[in-house]
Amino acid sequence: MKKIEQAKKRLEDNKQFKVLSILENLMDEKKEQLAKQILKVDFNLINRLYQNKDSKKNKNDKIEPIKYIDKNKLNNKQRQEIEKLGEKVLRQNQYAVVTMAGGQGTRLGWKGPKGTYKLDVGEDGKYIFEILANTLKRTTAKYGKEVYWYIMTSIENNDETINFFEKHNYFGYNKDKVKFFTQNILPLLDFEGNLLVDKNYTIKEASDGNGGVFVALKNSKMIDDMKAHNIKWVYVCGVDNIMANMTDEILLGLAIKNDVSSASKSIKKAYPEEKVGIFCKRNGKPAIIEYTEMDEKMIYAEDENGELLYGESNIVGHLFNIQTLEKMAEYKFEYHCARKKNTFIDSDLKEVIPNEPNTLKFEAYIFDGFEYLNDMVILRVNREEEFAPIKNATGVDSPESAKEIYENFYKKEEKK
Ligand code: UTP
Repeated sequence: MKKIEQAKKRLEDNKQFKVLSILENLMDEKKEQLAKQILKVDFNLINRLYQNKDSKKNKNDKIEPIKYIDKNKLNNKQRQEIEKLGEKVLRQNQYAVVTMAGGQGTRLGWKGPKGTYKLDVGEDGKYIFEILANTLKRTTAKYGKEVYWYIMTSIENNDETINFFEKHNYFGYNKDKVKFFTQNILPLLDFEGNLLVDKNYTIKEASDGNGGVFVALKNSKMIDDMKAHNIKWVYVCGVDNIMANMTDEILLGLAIKNDVSSASKSIKKAYPEEKVGIFCKRNGKPAIIEYTEMDEKMIYAEDENGELLYGESNIVGHLFNIQTLEKMAEYKFEYHCARKKNTFIDSDLKEVIPNEPNTLKFEAYIFDGFEYLNDMVILRVNREEEFAPIKNATGVDSPESAKEIYENFYKKEEKK
């Protein structure tokens, strides 16, 4: 009983009247459970996050274009030399892939973890996780070594993800090489700053953004695991790009040749106004500038060859050496605020299913870590070969567009 009174006081002090009325309307045993959770909420943090929800990056930042290497423009000799460097690491099994699958995937609207979505390709369709497993199996076939595969989940989707892999026998990938780890969570808020309660009468929480990957790797002891296996390079990418080339010898070879601790992939912006994050330098350090931060002059600026000065879009494929990965876990990441659709219960304990974004989700972004790097290699790759994201239910970056890219690519491969 004492806990319930304490929780009520906390809610009153922090003007969380919506949750307060839900708490008051609940049956006793549920009340106790919710009260316990309320007492664990860091109200100082969530009040601060809400207050800063619209804060933008510093307008006085010095933004400059960043150099990139175009994969298509490497000649055969350069290619071979670079590939050799990358191949050596793969052959020695000193390489790991981290798939970030802790997102909510709200735009796709698929009920389960995004990786369990079945895309209509091949004879019977293929799950996203299956497509990624198949990509890694091709690397195994090439080098005779199975790449270590670490999969980041969230508390919301961890059990379902693991059960799915078990049920499908890891899609023929060596189970011992696959490890799951879970990222941190933060409460969601509505647009007025209220905490939300879900239909299980718990405070609605969600993963803390893909920038949470570094701390999650460290806290789950996955970095120790990587070190124990003598892993030197780690490629971190999203779950939803079904064309991700996760073991790219050229990216790896370029990082080694240029003696940098990190390298990322970009694709050429489709058109100047495209709403994508762009690689640049911010105050002399590698960074991503969001389209909302770019003024008209920047959007259309061209170099002497008529290429956009800010034209390298981020496809969430980042390579780090193990030391850098470990160091990133020590840095402080700011939270950004994303607006997402989430269900919740109202004070009558009825579930509300929104049609429009209704919640603020606070997320750290992986690329904010770039400010701690002195330099990085950016490798421009071909969109039609390496980028088919599944974000939306229809239209751009949807299952339909991903299927088209996937099928075109594999048709061409078969003809080779
Ligand atoms: P997105 O920003 O596209 O978010 O994530 P999302 O949650 O998948 O989808 P929406 O916005 O709700 O529709 C880019 C990548 O980062 C991962 C996602 O799983 C995806 O691979 N991610 C995102 C996490 O692993 N954790 C997070 O907290 C957020």
